[in-house]
Amino acid sequence: MLKCTCTEAGTAKANEEPLCTQPDEIGLVPIEQDPLIGETPQGTLQSWLTPNSLFYVRNHYSFPTPEETNSWSLVIDGHVSTQLELTLDDFRQFPKQTLPITMECAGNNRSDLQPRVPGNPFQNGAISTAIWGGVPLNEILAKVGIKSEAVEVLFEGLDSGSPEPGVDTEPYLRSLSLDMAGNPNVLLAYEMNGEPLSLEHGYPLRLIVPGWYGMASVKWLRRMTLITEKFHGFFQGERYIIEEKDGTSVPVTDIQVKSLISWPQPGMALSRDSHNISGLAWSGSGHINRVQVSHDGGETWNDAQLVGPRYEYAWQQWNYDWTPDSDGHHIIVARAEDEKGNVQPMDTHWNRLGYVINGVKPVCVNVS
Ligand code: MTE
Repeated sequence: MLKCTCTEAGTAKANEEPLCTQPDEIGLVPIEQDPLIGETPQGTLQSWLTPNSLFYVRNHYSFPTPEETNSWSLVIDGHVSTQLELTLDDFRQFPKQTLPITMECAGNNRSDLQPRVPGNPFQNGAISTAIWGGVPLNEILAKVGIKSEAVEVLFEGLDSGSPEPGVDTEPYLRSLSLDMAGNPNVLLAYEMNGEPLSLEHGYPLRLIVPGWYGMASVKWLRRMTLITEKFHGFFQGERYIIEEKDGTSVPVTDIQVKSLISWPQPGMALSRDSHNISGLAWSGSGHINRVQVSHDGGETWNDAQLVGPRYEYAWQQWNYDWTPDSDGHHIIVARAEDEKGNVQPMDTHWNRLGYVINGVKPVCVNVS
């Protein structure tokens, strides 16, 4: 059973360093100004689709300049039969595919980890959902013709910088295996919720890898290169890896099953009337099949109702009616299960860089 972390006043126990929870003037909960990093505010984590302006932003470097985006084209080169250079107008000539996809940053909920780890102290707002529109990557790969010796596609963003002190300037780079790149749902997206992609989210064109943590979805895509060896660059070999205490590591890839409670908020004072507990649940391994809710810290569990749209790569809304049977502190917990039978763990697997934080997150409320 989970322990109550509320203070006497009923507010959830604060982290040692106070974290900002108020949206800034652009509407996001700020983490950093340059490079821009901001979370989706709590109140928006109830909607199935996230408005574009409130979709979380996670940049490693400053934005590309207008000169760079205005003169943009995408080069596809390396081990291909025909090298190509495509403009945005070229992309618009292909049949458009749209798909609702939830994107979660691998460091979402990092501020919950104990002991604390370095890195952006995300609360639970480094996650959002949009309907992405664009061209399936595999169509473009079919057009250039992949040579037999190629093993991966390397994706390069327009943005660049030094990834950490002492390391030379380099662009944002990530790769995908040919197998993953061939998934027909991997998109080269130029639209987000029916609007042209904004600069924040990768204008003119970005990669969208459904079901994977956000680091794979390279923004401001300027080059795709077919390569003959596995790529081990900074954001694939040094970051976005689960580093164990013994020094071994595995790469961060697909989103692990998880849920969040949108309502009530931690520390709320509730009456003994009936309340609608609601939230969202998601997994990179497919549909959510079940969400269970406990109002006694995990001692007993009840099935929540799955409501709203149901898509493979987008989060699932759920709710549960609860009438408290006693006054005092109550610990509400939700846990999700996906169609492959993966169940959200009670505890997050602690790792040095603070990724894939999917343990349940209790919400304490006071009933009177
Ligand atoms: N692509 C480029 N070129 N540069 C970046 O810094 N950040 C990645 C990914 N793609 C990044 C990038 C990370 S870590 C995440 S979580 C997502 O973009 C965030 O996408 P968003 O800012 O549109 O929410």
